[in-house]
Amino acid sequence: MVKAEFIISAASKRDFPQDGIPEVVFAGRSNVGKSSLINRLTGNEKLARTSSTPGKTQSINFYRIDGSFYFVDLPGFGYAKAAKSEIQRWKGLIEQYIINRSAIVLAIQLVDSRMPPTILDLRLFEWLERLEVPHILVGTKADKLSNNQRNTQMRVISKSFGGQSLVMSSAETGAGCKEIWKRVLQATAVTKSSSE
Ligand code: GTP
Ligand code: MG
Repeated sequence: MVKAEFIISAASKRDFPQDGIPEVVFAGRSNVGKSSLINRLTGNEKLARTSSTPGKTQSINFYRIDGSFYFVDLPGFGYAKAAKSEIQRWKGLIEQYIINRSAIVLAIQLVDSRMPPTILDLRLFEWLERLEVPHILVGTKADKLSNNQRNTQMRVISKSFGGQSLVMSSAETGAGCKEIWKRVLQATAVTKSSSE
């Protein structure tokens, strides 16, 4: 088990923690399962608020893990009808956060494993590449796919992102969590094993 503490829900730059410990960011479309995955990884179902209503997480939530790094839950994008203004709102807050945030050691980009990536998913990916933020791609809700579908989707989605490898995961079954923890611990250089 890991110790996970809620630290702050940041609505603007002023609220971001200033202690400089490493940050692992969870980013992706609204409703893709960011908060659920954070809860599964920490073994605490009540840590991050989840909802079947898209747009649950509106500010940037910081959770301190074992006192040594943060899990950062970003607000989801892509749920509003007015797509353009939605992109602007999301971009504004996220840009404030990601740009010049030297503490980010890893961005975990979540995409729904059941469907092809949206244009916003692809843009986020390009953006992380351009900003040279280390990042991994995680397919969520894999429990909703058969083994066959899972293999197909892995290939199709990976191809959409230019051959980037994809970790299939499920907040329901815990699939993929071991691999994600491995990447998190490598990035944060914390050697002790967590959440086995
Ligand atoms: P926002 O805060 O709106 O950006 O959404 P989010 O990305 O944090 O999604 P959240 O974790 O709140 O999950 C959205 C819905 O998907 C909830 O109803 C979850 O129960 C469901 N869900 C999330 N992960 C999984 C999964 O791995 N499997 C299944 N079957 N459902 C999932
Ligand atoms: Mg959320």
